[in-house]
Amino acid sequence: MAESSLCCRFCQTRPQAATRPHSLPGVTENAGDRRRIRGGCHSPRDFGADLLRFQQEGAARGPYYSGGMTWLVTGGAGYIGAHVVRALQDAGIPALVLDDLSSGHASFLAPGTPFILGSILDGAQLLEAIDEHEVTGVIHVAGFKYAGVSVQRPLHTYEQNVTGTAVLLAAMQDRGVDRIVFSSSAAVYGTPDVDIVTEDTPKNPQSPYGESKLIGEWLLRDQAIASGLRHTSLRYFNVVGSGDPTIYDTSPHNLFPLVFDALVAGRTPRINGNDYPTSDGTNVRDYIHVADLAVSHVAAAKRLDAGEPLESAYNLGSGDGVSVGEIMSTVAEVTGIPFTPEIAPRRLGDPARIVAAGDLAARDLEWRMRHSLREMVSSAWDARRSAER
Ligand SMILES: NC(=O)c1ccc[n+]([C@@H]2O[C@H](COP(=O)([O-])OP(=O)(O)OC[C@H]3O[C@@H](n4cnc5c(N)ncnc54)[C@H](O)[C@@H]3O)[C@@H](O)[C@H]2O)c1
Repeated sequence: MAESSLCCRFCQTRPQAATRPHSLPGVTENAGDRRRIRGGCHSPRDFGADLLRFQQEGAARGPYYSGGMTWLVTGGAGYIGAHVVRALQDAGIPALVLDDLSSGHASFLAPGTPFILGSILDGAQLLEAIDEHEVTGVIHVAGFKYAGVSVQRPLHTYEQNVTGTAVLLAAMQDRGVDRIVFSSSAAVYGTPDVDIVTEDTPKNPQSPYGESKLIGEWLLRDQAIASGLRHTSLRYFNVVGSGDPTIYDTSPHNLFPLVFDALVAGRTPRINGNDYPTSDGTNVRDYIHVADLAVSHVAAAKRLDAGEPLESAYNLGSGDGVSVGEIMSTVAEVTGIPFTPEIAPRRLGDPARIVAAGDLAARDLEWRMRHSLREMVSSAWDARRSAER
């Protein structure tokens, strides 16, 4: 067929024969995406150059994996999800990504990774994905993660994190998919008044975001009672670093991107408060490397596959915090940009210290801190710089 008679350069379809829009090679779109594609033709504007580049490379290289026993990673094109997908692939476990790219990037995926452009809110799309790719387990990473913004956007937060999880669980139940690993958060604890947070520390979320994550955990628990779902929730603390220079944290609210943004723009990074009862007066938090966290997801998936027992929730914490002041000094060393951070007032309700014990995860999920603070900072900085090139 002559190129000129095709719908577009990605198609094998004649314009007059295209009764409905169709997929890019290897991509399935949901109804919402189909609505965005006018006249059944694809153009770079429809999907973004990022997704097109991913598809072109993937089509050239062929599928990464195919066939059954696939783990679906929702939100697999995001910062954490993409690391989890790489860890699954490194372990030889077939992974399928479903992501609406609301905050993710197709370029974070290795070429050839099976990818569906779609939302967890679209139950029909989930059923199709499970059937087509013979999904046997789900790592549910997709979510709206901005705790501060969630206070202004509670309905959006609940829709994405609670309704989205319920729709996903319904599709899983419908198709008999009975294992799930859920991305939960330290935010379920709120501002705990304890030296070390354990899984039993009282849950007192203080934002719609934290509440939505706790409800997500409850949904899994209740589905386990109702339908025998096997599950675990991983409560992340402060996730930083990059396990691959092509994947980085793009959050406009997290400490590392904010500090790097300031340095790149020639501004001085800020610290909120330096009069806390800590060694250097700045907040102490539990920073963990994203690649270490990804490994524990694979361990959880393997245990679920093997029918081995898991706790309903695990803290992925270091047991040993790092102060924001220490991070600033390490950033200055690694970047070679000397600076003394500006001191802004304390943020309301910001506790002096939040550090979690990761003992249970170490016992069951191969959890350990394999990276130093310097490696966390340098990998994040390298990824950030390669993104700018
Ligand atoms: N980054 C952290 O420090 C941290 C800490 C605790 C918990 N978490 C949780 O981990 C998960 C991943 O966080 P992240 O830092 O990678 O964020 P991210 O924003 O980079 O990733 C979220 C991914 O989910 C996708 N997504 C969002 N809504 C979706 C929907 N309705 N359907 C399909 N895909 C959707 C986004 O496009 C994105 O790719 C989130 O659930 C977050 O709440 C993150």
